[in-house]
Amino acid sequence: MPDSEHVFLFLPSFLSLILFFILIKRKRRRFNLPPGRMGWPFVGETIGYLKPYSAISVGEFMQQHMSRYGNIYKSNLFGEKTIVSADAGLNKFILQNEGRLFECSYPRSIGGILGKWSMLVLVGDMHRDMRIISLNFLSNARLRTHLLREVEKHTLLVLSTWKEDCIFSAQDEAKKFTFNLMAKNIMSMDPGHPETEQLKKEYVTFMKGVVSAPLNLPGTAYRKALQSRSTILKFIERKMEERIKKTKEGKENPEEDDLLEWVLKHSNLSTEQILDLILSLLFAGHETSSVAIALAIYFLPGCPTAIQQLREEHLEIVRAKKQSGEMELNWDDYKKMKFTQCVINETLRLGNVVRFLHRKALKDVRYGGYDIPCGWKVLPVIAAVHLDPSLFDQPQHFNPWRWQQNNNTTCGTSPSSSCPSTPTASSSNYFLPFGGGPRLCAGSELARLEMAVFIHHLVLNHQWELADVDQAFAFPFVDFPKGLPIRVQRHTSDMN
Ligand code: HEM
Ligand SMILES: *[C@@H]1O[C@H](CO)[C@@H](O)[C@H](O)[C@H]1NC(C)=O
Ligand SMILES: *[C@@H]1O[C@H](CO)[C@@H](O)[C@H](O)[C@H]1NC(C)=O
Ligand SMILES: *[C@@H]1O[C@H](CO)[C@@H](O)[C@H](O)[C@H]1NC(C)=O
Ligand SMILES: *[C@@H]1O[C@H](CO)[C@@H](O)[C@H](O)[C@H]1NC(C)=O
Repeated sequence: MPDSEHVFLFLPSFLSLILFFILIKRKRRRFNLPPGRMGWPFVGETIGYLKPYSAISVGEFMQQHMSRYGNIYKSNLFGEKTIVSADAGLNKFILQNEGRLFECSYPRSIGGILGKWSMLVLVGDMHRDMRIISLNFLSNARLRTHLLREVEKHTLLVLSTWKEDCIFSAQDEAKKFTFNLMAKNIMSMDPGHPETEQLKKEYVTFMKGVVSAPLNLPGTAYRKALQSRSTILKFIERKMEERIKKTKEGKENPEEDDLLEWVLKHSNLSTEQILDLILSLLFAGHETSSVAIALAIYFLPGCPTAIQQLREEHLEIVRAKKQSGEMELNWDDYKKMKFTQCVINETLRLGNVVRFLHRKALKDVRYGGYDIPCGWKVLPVIAAVHLDPSLFDQPQHFNPWRWQQNNNTTCGTSPSSSCPSTPTASSSNYFLPFGGGPRLCAGSELARLEMAVFIHHLVLNHQWELADVDQAFAFPFVDFPKGLPIRVQRHTSDMN
């Protein structure tokens, strides 16, 4: 009876198939996971996710996944089961439930290089303590007086070296500006001083490792960066010891109103903690705002009307100051930079300096009918929301006027009649270039101030054009492969 033989042959596989479906069903009943695929074992879809793409887009990977699965999908990224969210509501929900339903969770390699006491990786009470120190250093009171003056000084220092008709890297110039500013305000290091230049050089190596594949093998960028990290830490430690010695000798220097002084006086952090705090602030405060300034320099020449309107706004400020005889910008002047703030918002929206954040679920969370299981990684992709055509009309367009109420001016194209160009109340609600919730960027106000003051002196004194074709890429950190070469000409404004 060959037929019954067949039945015996197939029975075990039949049974296991049924068992398999029961298990799947069980799992399904427990969790309604978002759609998506997990890709290859271990690497999952990480390689596709990290493939470089134009910074003013969400990239091919996101685009494909979003059209196939929707704004919330599952994947396997950085070696972990992950929920990716391009959903404005879910992103906000994740950030606002930090510490309750979700928690900051950067890959181990980031902690290895920024340090285990870095603010980016700390959670809970320790994070809160470090955050209080940073907010103190970046407080509104300090911004209004001390930091505003510093920002202007360092802007002029960089812009004054811009020679007529020369071609240079706008990205490097922006980096010089933000590095000098941070080094001065964190450790009272003077721009151009050999010590500062040495630290800057070491820091470049360090940065290359932060953004590289975390392979701790001889010769890799990551290994070199770990070495740079220890060189930089030794350097900061030396500064710290000098400072402690000075204080002991009673030689208090009133000019040293910097972060190091504040931390030594007002906190009881260990040396190791102070070193990581200083290194992570140098990192957080330098890389991001320099990219943001480079992006503004990149976007503006494509929109001459915006440059024109910026010039009018800043000329007006200078005119008013002329009457009072005061030269330096003050807080009232800064508050008058209304259109400049639109340009800043639009630069951050379109350029997306920080594209996504790393979180993990602390509990099983249900959102919009989907389950996010406890322990899964969650990536809120803030860039995808800023480029969502249902929230921002013509999202790929640099249009600062969309931030201005009741204004239909756009750059280059005629305004569309069906869609108002100003964002609706809800869309500006979903604009989160600095993250949100208890981990909202501690330096967001400083970053805006840096951009505004830099733009002020830039548009008043210079004309510039892109000297070579270059483009902002997301690696996913935003970078100009050629360094954004620009050619500069002097611009003389009619002051009367
Ligand atoms: C345009 C410039 C900047 C952008 C786009 C930016 C963006 C961000 C984002 C998105 C976060 C949240 C990270 C997370 O939730 O995982 C963050 C955190 C942070 N940023 Fe910025 N940032 C900028 C400039 C600065 C500056 C100038 C500083 C100051 C020195 C700074 C200091 C920090 C610090 C200390 C944190 C950690 C906050 C915390 O964990 O509580 N940032 N930044
Ligand atoms: C200093 O350390 C002690 C004990 O470790 C702690 O209780 C206290 O809160 C700390 N103070 C500050 C300002 O961090
Ligand atoms: C820029 O964006 C911020 C949100 O980050 C918003 O509060 C502010 O009103 C915006 N500025 C303008 C001029 O629209
Ligand atoms: C709208 O933008 C144009 C840009 O050229 C500007 O001249 C005008 O004053 C703006 N109108 C309002 C209401 O802000
Ligand atoms: C902007 O466009 C809308 C719709 O086209 C129109 O109703 C509105 O009056 C315009 N606003 C201004 C300030 O021109």
